[in-house]
Amino acid sequence: MARGLFITFEGGEGAGKSTQIQRLATKLRAKGYKLTVTREPGGSPGAEAVRHVLLSGAAEPFGPAMEALLFAAARSDHVEQVIRPAVERGEIVLCDRFLDSSRVYQGATSDLDPELLATIERVAINGMMPDMTIIFDLDPEEGLRRASARRGADTPDRFEKETLAVHQRRREAYLAIAEREPERCIVIDASADLETVENMVTAAVFAALEVRAAQSRPRQEA
Ligand code: TYD
Repeated sequence: MARGLFITFEGGEGAGKSTQIQRLATKLRAKGYKLTVTREPGGSPGAEAVRHVLLSGAAEPFGPAMEALLFAAARSDHVEQVIRPAVERGEIVLCDRFLDSSRVYQGATSDLDPELLATIERVAINGMMPDMTIIFDLDPEEGLRRASARRGADTPDRFEKETLAVHQRRREAYLAIAEREPERCIVIDASADLETVENMVTAAVFAALEVRAAQSRPRQEA
């Protein structure tokens, strides 16, 4: 059976990832593709248990290195229980946040040793690199406004509550990853209206599916 496709969605707070993932999922299902739609931190029962510890801030006193380890532990379970089996079944996996969130949130705004983070990343993903990563790029001021409107009276989570300068550094860190790994990353301007963003996401994903289909067709003899 042909291997599936693993697509991750990344970006700062309020960039509109979840809405766009739902829209893309509807389109892909309508075309008959089998999908697994998932998210991090979480996505498997074990990782969902860790999610609450991380997002409530309960793990913050452990320090950034231990938080990074918890994200990685959750990721490892998610990869082995959900993502890898789905890709091996030939499905398209749409994942809301993955390793780039750790590179950006745990890496870019802390003084953790980059080699340590790279080692933790390797162990957590165990070879399961995304085939494609769509980065939603948005001015953090606008993103935080949107996130706060969505949240209503609830308090911001552990990572949303950081200063604007931290959110700005995260944005730059995402753009730096996209520059370093252009074969995997696509940056989309998330300030555009919902339909425009949806069209950009759809075009990128359907182009990748075309390439994959062409690669799996038997070669014509010359
Ligand atoms: P979530 O409520 O899922 O938010 P969002 O809609 O922004 O994706 O919260 C996930 C939070 O966890 C988000 O602030 C980013 C943070 N995070 C990390 O710090 N490291 C990670 O590896 C992951 C996956 C998420």
